[in-house]
Amino acid sequence: MRILSGIQPSGALHIGNYFGMMRPAVALQAEGEALYFIANYHALTTVRDPQALRENSRRVALDFLACGLDPERATLFRHSDVPQVTELAWILSTVAPMGLFERAHSYKDKLAHGMAATVGLFSYPILMAADILIYDSDIVPVGKDQKQHIEMTRDLAVKMNETFGQSEPDGRIFKLPEPRIQAATETVPGIDGQKMSKSYGNNIDIFSDEKEMRKRVMSIVTDSTPVDAAKDPANSTIFKLYSLVASKEEIADMRERFLKGGTGYGDFKKQLFEKLWEYFAPMRKRREEILNDKSYIDTVLARGAKRANEIANQVMERVRAAVGLR
Ligand code: ADP
Ligand code: TRP
Repeated sequence: MRILSGIQPSGALHIGNYFGMMRPAVALQAEGEALYFIANYHALTTVRDPQALRENSRRVALDFLACGLDPERATLFRHSDVPQVTELAWILSTVAPMGLFERAHSYKDKLAHGMAATVGLFSYPILMAADILIYDSDIVPVGKDQKQHIEMTRDLAVKMNETFGQSEPDGRIFKLPEPRIQAATETVPGIDGQKMSKSYGNNIDIFSDEKEMRKRVMSIVTDSTPVDAAKDPANSTIFKLYSLVASKEEIADMRERFLKGGTGYGDFKKQLFEKLWEYFAPMRKRREEILNDKSYIDTVLARGAKRANEIANQVMERVRAAVGLR
């Protein structure tokens, strides 16, 4: 079984990325051949500062390793170290129905948040489909917001198989990948209660310093329920985030105190901060260790690029032959 996922180096990693994608990705590395990449081609749709893109790409590699990605078991690489993927994206785009892409939620959502409507942003799901199909991936661990992109990937794979698959031994060029979405976490809310996202500025970063993390937690938007009144845990960002990092008993205790009244949101926020800080402590420690070994990240990425290219080259030979480019 082959597992694949990517993460954009468009900023520091936040707890939405961690629970939606990184933690499941780390857990899956024991179940098959895992390939995880830093989606720097994708980040070009929003990052315009070359130095920032370079630095963020390294930082994402560092953070992913700190969060438990084991380079002895999984392959970690940079998107741009496998440029063949852009060739596959072009080939896929020639069979991709416009209407399918016009319905993409994430594109509409990004425009609604003020991003420029570029062709790259629009056709992004085609590149993402190429990312997945070029490794014959079986499982794609992602957050819920990416589900539609995996469905589009499957649609494109079916289209390619129908159009060009006849001469293949099993009648198809591509495997159909399955998304693996964490039902328990679904969408992690940001400090404004919307989906946490780097691009929405509502993120709490995993590896920010103590002061910054505390500040972000203390700025979580709440309703104006008075201290004495009962509060609704189900609609509270504080409670939702606490539920990700606290034990069962601690969660039950906070729920009870929400329902009982008498505790202000400020106190709940302090409690949330303490738990978050404690939860990520082992990862902060690992991150420091990696930072002390200057060549570690480069060695991991170089090895990752080699393995990713081996697979991608094989699949591309098959695709080029099937469509008539060879
Ligand atoms: P962002 O929206 O911050 O730019 P990305 O789009 O780079 O994050 O997401 C990287 C991975 O993290 C994806 O698999 C995505 O589904 C997951 N993810 C991002 N934000 C959240 C969230 N708020 N809740 C759950 N998963 C998320
Ligand atoms: N689109 C994903 C995101 O924004 C990142 C990504 C790019 C990805 N290519 C992928 C995820 C392939 C899984 C598989 O989060």
